[in-house]
Amino acid sequence: MARKQVTWGGRFSAGPAQLMQQFSESVSFDSRLALFDIAGSQAHAAMLAHVGLITARECAAIHKGLEQIRREIEAGEFAWDLALEDVHMNIEHALTLRVPAAAKLHTARSRNDQVATDMRLWFKAACAELRTKLHGAQCALLDVASANAGVLIPGYTHLQRAQPVYLAHHLFAWMEMLARDCERFERVAALANWCPLGSGAIAGTTLPIDREHTARLLGFVDARGRPQVTQNSMDTVADRDLFIEFANACALVGVHFSRMAEDLILWSSSEFGFVDLPDAFCTGSSLMPQKKNPDSCELLRGKSARLQGNLHTLLTLTKGLPLTYNRDLQEDKPPVFDSFDQVAICAEVFAGTVGGLRVNEAACAAAVADPALLATDLADYLVERGVPFREAHHAVGAVVQLAEKRGVALNALETREVKKINAAFAEDWREVFDLKRALAKRSGTGMPGPVQLRRQFARWKKLLK
Ligand code: ARG
Repeated sequence: MARKQVTWGGRFSAGPAQLMQQFSESVSFDSRLALFDIAGSQAHAAMLAHVGLITARECAAIHKGLEQIRREIEAGEFAWDLALEDVHMNIEHALTLRVPAAAKLHTARSRNDQVATDMRLWFKAACAELRTKLHGAQCALLDVASANAGVLIPGYTHLQRAQPVYLAHHLFAWMEMLARDCERFERVAALANWCPLGSGAIAGTTLPIDREHTARLLGFVDARGRPQVTQNSMDTVADRDLFIEFANACALVGVHFSRMAEDLILWSSSEFGFVDLPDAFCTGSSLMPQKKNPDSCELLRGKSARLQGNLHTLLTLTKGLPLTYNRDLQEDKPPVFDSFDQVAICAEVFAGTVGGLRVNEAACAAAVADPALLATDLADYLVERGVPFREAHHAVGAVVQLAEKRGVALNALETREVKKINAAFAEDWREVFDLKRALAKRSGTGMPGPVQLRRQFARWKKLLK
């Protein structure tokens, strides 16, 4: 016989079927909200005492009981019961067994505004934690960039060699991506910073509560310490935008890591040979003894699919859902928790992989030595001599074609040959092919020249410390 549900069983003559319990429980995943749930309950109780709905003594008993439960949970000694459905009812039930006043805790509160509060607290903490993890990945990047500050590689467009850049400039492109990800989490945390408590199940309460008081206690305050409470009780219990924003921020981290991972996979292939990935983040083949596979990078690439899937799950979950709360919404947590877990470990694995990277300077130097990478500089040379860029581009195209026909490097052609193509070519035309000089000329903001690179090193050092 199914036991009657204590929390809401009043109007039921029988409890849920075993199968229904198993189907509808969420404590197996929402127990990770426990500490936020306790903090929320303590603030709620304090507010109830503040407005006189419970006595100070009752409030103190509730606080003490919750502290005890917190310690048990932290020690792994708390007995979670699937029959009690979720984290909220597990904790309230345990509290009720110890503290008679616990029967008053749910005054002017519903699990709908309770779970919204727990999640908003969780999002604030989760965003801060992921920012720390991404910061770790950025520090690892800065270290590799510093250790290889003089290394040049070809930059690619269409996966064809395009123009020379410092390896550090490429790594700093990754830094920018991660910096935007950090900012995104900061924005999501700001969106989370509004207190739902007091919205009740859908329509607030008839009791004289003080929402601002609870918000202040829970740290839902603006920069000047003023409480921030949500402004519409129906929206508050129905809204899951924040979940989607968080999953979106995570999905973008995934996309970013997948692109960096792909570069590393290419660079570590024999075809490129620019880098050696650390053994500790690679695996071998059970059949081919010579293989060293870039598995950490491949998984970083693969995890992005999962992170996008989580975002999609949440969009689909909320699409067309009538206002306000529907039990469907319980399914909002697994994708969010999974996105958090995956981004956290991705950032660590990325930092580990990058941290153990060895740059093969000879291979990089050989790849970047092709004078054709400076064909655009040669066009700029003509521009400096008054040739319109379109014409200069065409002339250099003809120079490239001639070199190809001859089977020689671009700068191996005779001066009189290039002069025939465009009269603006002078004796000094080969100076263009000095790589150092070519990079030095790229001195504008955002460009890969050494002056800018020094500025970027200084900037990142300052930002990351
Ligand atoms: N476990 C539920 C969830 O995560 C809590 C809210 C339950 N509310 C309700 N009306 N049954 O969505």
